[in-house]
Amino acid sequence: MSTLQETFDRAMAATAEGRFDAAVSDFQAVLAARPDEGPVLFSLGVTLMNARRFPEAAEVLNRAVATPDVEPLWRNCLAQARYMTGDFAGAAATFETVGEPLGDGAVLTWARAAAYAAAETSTADAALAVYGRIAGPLAEDPTTVIREGFSILVAFKRLAAARTLGDWLAEHTVDDPIQGHERRVLTEQDIDRAPSDYVEALFDNFADRFDEQLVDNLGYDAPALLADKVAAHGDRFARILDLGCGTGLAGPHLRRFQGRITGVDLSSGMLARAAERGDYDQLVQAEAIDFLGRAPAGFDLIFSADVLVYFGDLAPLFAAAASALPPGGVLAVSTERGEEGWTLLPSARYAHGEAYVRQASAPWFDLFDHAEISLRRDATDTTPGRLYVMRRKG
Ligand SMILES: C[S@@+](CC[C@H](N)C(=O)[O-])C[C@H]1O[C@@H](n2cnc3c(N)ncnc32)[C@H](O)[C@@H]1O
Repeated sequence: MSTLQETFDRAMAATAEGRFDAAVSDFQAVLAARPDEGPVLFSLGVTLMNARRFPEAAEVLNRAVATPDVEPLWRNCLAQARYMTGDFAGAAATFETVGEPLGDGAVLTWARAAAYAAAETSTADAALAVYGRIAGPLAEDPTTVIREGFSILVAFKRLAAARTLGDWLAEHTVDDPIQGHERRVLTEQDIDRAPSDYVEALFDNFADRFDEQLVDNLGYDAPALLADKVAAHGDRFARILDLGCGTGLAGPHLRRFQGRITGVDLSSGMLARAAERGDYDQLVQAEAIDFLGRAPAGFDLIFSADVLVYFGDLAPLFAAAASALPPGGVLAVSTERGEEGWTLLPSARYAHGEAYVRQASAPWFDLFDHAEISLRRDATDTTPGRLYVMRRKG
């Protein structure tokens, strides 16, 4: 049997090697015997931060800073963990108690935390004043602070504060397609599709970071899961369309079907990444529905992972997909899971209820398989999704 010291050392080694689950259970075994051991609580908190389990990290680090041997770094980590859970007021208050000079990065996180907390109860200009007082000479340009604050507050569903910052942006900046649409989404619930200029600008900006952010940080795996679902119903498709192919994450999973693969996307930045992957026979920059309308019965499999989230009303998309498939052709899509009908979310994505997807596709498709998945991790939780595989009616 291991001693507590050996278990602790093993946990530290596991953390260093990125085996966070093993490390957490060893730290917890030590804490079962020594529940108030500050350094163990701190090490567990850091491991949970590395594993991006921020709410648990904040809880454990909060226990660590209540122990007698607390060190300034522990409070600094607790403040960072609180920031990552969206507890901006708590983060700002904790940074204030660290008790030793902070590095530049921590000062800026503190300043942002205090500003976002201020935006909940005050004006954007007041939030910027708070930011400036803390950031001092390190202060970033106000538009950057407000723009990023807007996105972060939306991600944490602090919509009143997000609107406060959105209004400031509308007044102080030229309306760009991304911010303009993201602001409208907070007030106009009946927008039935993401505008093409928004999608194109969003993904052109995102293309270089997309794979790292989605796959490494958010655990996105829908292309592989959807391809597995399709493979349960057919092992060969001669003409395959990856609709909204993005950087081509689906490409390697579609090759198993041994057909000619076409990728279509609005974003040239995303298409350039897909071209680098080398899995596609043809890549086309086009809007999805326009492209489908120009390809009568042109494909045997239409595959579309995480693209229906940019369409509210799905009927036009299903009609166009049906026109691009022969009878018996397969359509495989993923959605973000909603309750009823379609809902425009503060994230500017759409969620769809299962009954709605069935009803909107029914004129053209028989649904023959579906599954629940976790689409990705988000700011506070995981986002539920659904996969659907359908066959074009004869
Ligand atoms: C979240 S990414 C998913 C990319 C890829 N399917 C994957 O699973 O990694 C959504 C992609 O759909 C594209 N997209 C969204 N709406 C579109 C539309 N109306 N027409 C064409 N592409 C669209 C975007 O440009 C983006 O590359």
